[in-house]
Amino acid sequence: MSGARQTPASLVGARPEAAHIIEFDGREIPALPGQSIAAALWAADILAWRTTRVEGRPRGAFCGIGACYDCLATVNGRPNQRTCLLPAQPGDTVTTQEGHGRADLAI
Ligand code: FES
Repeated sequence: MSGARQTPASLVGARPEAAHIIEFDGREIPALPGQSIAAALWAADILAWRTTRVEGRPRGAFCGIGACYDCLATVNGRPNQRTCLLPAQPGDTVTTQEGHGRADLAI
């Protein structure tokens, strides 16, 4: 087995445009044009970006098609965004979402 890392793009011989940068919890992450936020996070070896409401367990993308809601995150200040459906836009700011994502409404 070769040491080169294979990616979906390399497997199909794709030549995407240059990556742009999004921010995740203060860390700069490259994202390709058209790539979902969840896919960009996965490509950066980030597998969890939400915690469950009751027990605070880590969650990330599961279904990848907008059905399970495991991939919720706060994107540009808006909580409860399904990152598997959102194309990463240059300059997007993504933050880990804890619980129900309504911390701004807490008393
Ligand atoms: S991964 Fe299931 S809704 Fe996004």
